[in-house]
Parts: sequence; structure tokens; C-alpha cells
Amino acid sequence: MDELETLDDLRARHGPIFRRGPGVLYVGEPAEAKAVLADTGSRYREHSDFFQTGKGLFGPRSAQQEVGRAARNLLRDHWTARSDRLAAIVAREIGPDSRWPDAGNLLLYTCFRDVLVPEGELRRLVDQVVRHAVLAGARERRPVLLRAALRYRVRRALVAELSRRRTRDVRAPADLLDVLAAAAPDDSSRTALVRLAEVFLSFLFAVVGSTGFLLGWSVYLRATAPGAGGDLAGVVREALRLRPVAWNFGRFPAEPHRLAGTEVTTSDEVVVCSYLVHRDSRFWPDADEFRPQRWSAGMPPGGAEAYIPFGWGTHTCVAAGFAVQVVEDVLGLLPPAGQWRVEARRHRPHVAAALAPPTFTLRTNGARTGEGGEHGQDHPRRTGGAQHPQE
Ligand code: HEM
Repeated sequence: MDELETLDDLRARHGPIFRRGPGVLYVGEPAEAKAVLADTGSRYREHSDFFQTGKGLFGPRSAQQEVGRAARNLLRDHWTARSDRLAAIVAREIGPDSRWPDAGNLLLYTCFRDVLVPEGELRRLVDQVVRHAVLAGARERRPVLLRAALRYRVRRALVAELSRRRTRDVRAPADLLDVLAAAAPDDSSRTALVRLAEVFLSFLFAVVGSTGFLLGWSVYLRATAPGAGGDLAGVVREALRLRPVAWNFGRFPAEPHRLAGTEVTTSDEVVVCSYLVHRDSRFWPDADEFRPQRWSAGMPPGGAEAYIPFGWGTHTCVAAGFAVQVVEDVLGLLPPAGQWRVEARRHRPHVAAALAPPTFTLRTNGARTGEGGEHGQDHPRRTGGAQHPQE
């Protein structure tokens, strides 16, 4: 049984809120999950996975919010300014036989690289981080010591670059490093710079990893659910429901309390599980099925009650709308879905910090959208047997 099958099994046996080993409480009940994340009763310690670093939390909160918004705006402006070149990039990067989910991650890295990191030695290191730490399954393929060495080198290079940029007077940030160099300017200690370097890596993972995996899921699910229908907006929203890339969020109680009748202590971790929340059959009929047309008439009832792919409350993803837009834009430029054929040796997700699609090959006949028409094509086919070179 893999991780997701285990979660399904635990829910079937214990209901949507259950203990999983000592000190870990899983919450898959939508209202309780949202209450934990919103934390209106201040029962949890302030927490942000995004801004958590090996040297403590990057902060204060106002700086987190400022950096989040500035980075999102920078990425969005970059995307908008280059929209006329996107079709050519997609055509060049995604050939008729493309290997996913890596193809999606690398496409987005190509699109955003210039606004993430300047050309040169630092970029070469970041290229390696993408290949050896961001791509699905990359961490398992690379020995722990080599990953630690890469992390050390990239962190050191980022700290040096951030330190250099702090001496510059930057009015309009040219890239993410400018945004970070301008953050929390009162503290220029090495610890502060290391925290900023790690926040850079959080952004890299969000842009190339999370958004790339959402693209991968959208392609995979659309190709393997014959007759699923729906428009691209529905495809992306439904992919986020059925296979939420951010599939769990940990929170740490600040005081003992009861959660849906269960005692919670300050040594527990409460894990809000979007994967379980999104499969609550009270809100999502045929919850295990991929049905983009649920979203055809706007937000379905479950969307308001049991849908948290970007979190909930104060730490909700600052780039939710932008990430969805990016994926919709790319999907609209791929060859028509009717001509897709997915081959995979195993149709189970990669379950790690992010929920990534299985490794698959997408075969198309090379036609682009517009040549064969995006809608109303033959159903895509799914076949087994293709090998991924990395497996
Ligand atoms: C499909 C892509 C993405 C998914 C699924 C995703 C998901 C999430 C989730 C679930 C959280 C809340 C975590 C928690 O409450 O512990 C979050 C926070 C955040 N995300 Fe995203 N994210 C994505 C893309 C991005 C991108 C492209 C950016 C780049 C700007 C970004 C920036 C952030 C930031 C700055 C936060 C922290 C918000 C705060 O605490 O104020 N995310 N994201």
C-alpha cells in the first residue's frame, strides 16, 4: 500500500480525523481542517512551511507578506510581458514524445529562469538544484551526501550574491534575488542571509516544482480520463482537487485543546490533509473521479466547503491565481488533447513533500492547438509499457 492508499484505508476505518502514530493527528474533515488553518482561536503556533528555514523562521510576518507579494508580482509581470513568446517556447520544449512530469517542470524553469537567477556560476548551481532536488523522485535518485554538498554550495553562492546586492540601491527588482535582498533590511547578519537563501529555494520549488507538478497532473488526468470533458479552467481546478500538489500542512498546537472530540497536546503535530478534504463525498459526488465539468457552471458546492489546494486563512498561497493561470496558458498551447497518448509503467503518484504525477511519456502526433482543434477530438488513450530512462 502506498501513502495515499494508506490514507484512504485509515479514513475508511477511523473517519476523517485520526491519529497516525504517536503525536500525529490527521485532519481530513473540511470544516475542522479550515478551522485549524484559519486558527481563529489562536490555538496554534505561528507557522509557515514556506518561510521556515534551517536557521529559524524568516520574518517578521510583515516581511513575509511583502516578499510574497513582490515575488508574485515580479513573476506575473515577467509572464505577461513574454506571453507572445510562450507558444514558441512550448513548441520547442515539448516535443511529440515528451517525458513527464519533468517536461512540465523544465518548461517552467525555462520560462522563469531569467527572473529567478542571473546567468553565470550561480545559475549553473541552481540548474543542478532543479535537476537533483526539485524534479519528481530526484531526491531518491541522488545520494544524500551529494545532495548535502550541492545544498551547501548553492546556499553559499546565494548568500554571497544576496550580500553583494544589499549594497545596491534597487528601485525596481530585476529578479527574485533583488526582491529578497531588499527584504528585512535591518538585519544583515549571516544568519539573516542564510534564511533569505533558503526562502529563495522555497520560491524555486513553488515555481518550478509545485506549478510544474500541477501542469503535469493536468496533462496526465486529462489524457487518462476518457470523456472527462470540461474546459481548461475546469481541468486545472479539478486536477488540484483530485491530486492536490500540496497535500498536507503541519501545524503545532500552542495550548492543549479538543479537536472534534479528540484531545490535542502541545507535543502533537496536527496535519491538515487536503488530499482527504478533497475526497469528502458529502461535498464531492464520485469524489475519486476526475470530472472537470463539475466546474463548468462556476464554483461547485464542494469548492466553497471542501477545497483547500492553496491552503486556507492567513497563510493561503499568495500566488494561487497566478499559478492556475500559468498552467491554463501552457495547456492551451499543447497539441489538442484528442491526439494525446499517455504511456506509463506505473500509474501511481510520486508521494513526497509534494504530490507529483507518475512518470509518463506523452505521445502526440506533433500537431499544435489550432491545427487539429482542442475540443471534440477522439478520446485520448492510455497504454502501459513505456520505460522511463531514469527508472
Ligand atoms: C500549483 C502551485 C502552488 C501550490 C499548490 C501552492 C500551494 C501553497 C500552499 C498550500 C500554501 C500554504 C501553506 C501553509 O499554509 O502551510 C502556500 C503558501 C505560499 N505560496 Fe504557494 N503554491 C503554489 C505556487 C506558488 C508560487 C508560483 C509562488 C510564487 C510567488 C508561491 C508562493 C507562496 C508563498 C509566498 C506562500 C506563503 C504565504 C504566506 O504565508 O503568507 N506559491 N502555497
